[in-house]
Amino acid sequence: MTDSWRPTSARSSGSSPLKPPEQAELIAEPDLEDEEYQYDEDRDRDSALGSDIDFAEQFPNAQVIGTDLSPMQPMWVPPNVRFELEDCTQPWSWPESYFDFVHLRYLFGAIPDWNEFLRQAYRVTRPGGWVESCETEVMIKCDDGSIPPDSAFVTFWNKIYSEIGDKLGKSFEPITYNLQENAFRAAGFRNIEVYEYKLPVTGWPTDKRMSEVGQYVQLTLLNDLEGYTLMPWNTVMGENAPGYKENLAQMRWELQNRRLHGYMKTRYVYGQKPET
Ligand SMILES: C[S@@+](CC[C@H](N)C(=O)[O-])C[C@H]1O[C@@H](n2cnc3c(N)ncnc32)[C@H](O)[C@@H]1O
Repeated sequence: MTDSWRPTSARSSGSSPLKPPEQAELIAEPDLEDEEYQYDEDRDRDSALGSDIDFAEQFPNAQVIGTDLSPMQPMWVPPNVRFELEDCTQPWSWPESYFDFVHLRYLFGAIPDWNEFLRQAYRVTRPGGWVESCETEVMIKCDDGSIPPDSAFVTFWNKIYSEIGDKLGKSFEPITYNLQENAFRAAGFRNIEVYEYKLPVTGWPTDKRMSEVGQYVQLTLLNDLEGYTLMPWNTVMGENAPGYKENLAQMRWELQNRRLHGYMKTRYVYGQKPET
């Protein structure tokens, strides 16, 4: 089985006070009942990698399978969702045309071959069914020069994630390299749509809703900063390389400084498997 860079401790699992689906909903999650998705509620199989619980609640008639590499799912879930341990970088275990809808989320740093990944998703989706991929690019950016080049956001966080991606051969920059959309096209999906938003990393936006989103991201990061960064740091800089604690402290300080207008890009791509 493949390893995951992400910590699976209880601390990390509970690190976001707002689960990613809610985070996205607060901003602009696509409406799954939108005609564009043509989601068929009466069919009985769906796969959701990620927002499985939300999806199951939203569509109580659907059977939802949530998958992950590690058994870190909550105990209390809607009755129409079940979890399976599955390595999504290996050949998928479901038969062809099995699902109406496949949702893939936050697999930055986990996928060595995006074309193969979307080929698998295409294979298990029924003709006319849909696949959706949501990815966040963990690099913290700004549009107004408020983040100086010597900040820990740049020299610590962005550096280790950029370099570990190269080292592991699994990119943390799916948006910069357009990995999702390219793979949807290569797999043969039609009616491909792409949209993007910026996820602020603190409460800096003047817009109230976006400020709230930023505060949730900030709390998530602050709660388990060590969990997110220790493995990338050791991989990139060498085991127990000096400077880690100082970088953490600086990063914590920057995550509480609203004058730094940092955000992470998030991109949804979805597409339909042709009917014939
Ligand atoms: C950032 S979390 C996202 C969790 C969930 N998909 C969501 O959207 O809320 C990344 C997850 O991908 C899982 N993962 C990493 N490599 C994987 C693989 N090869 N197959 C399946 N899951 C994997 C990790 O265990 C981790 O739970």
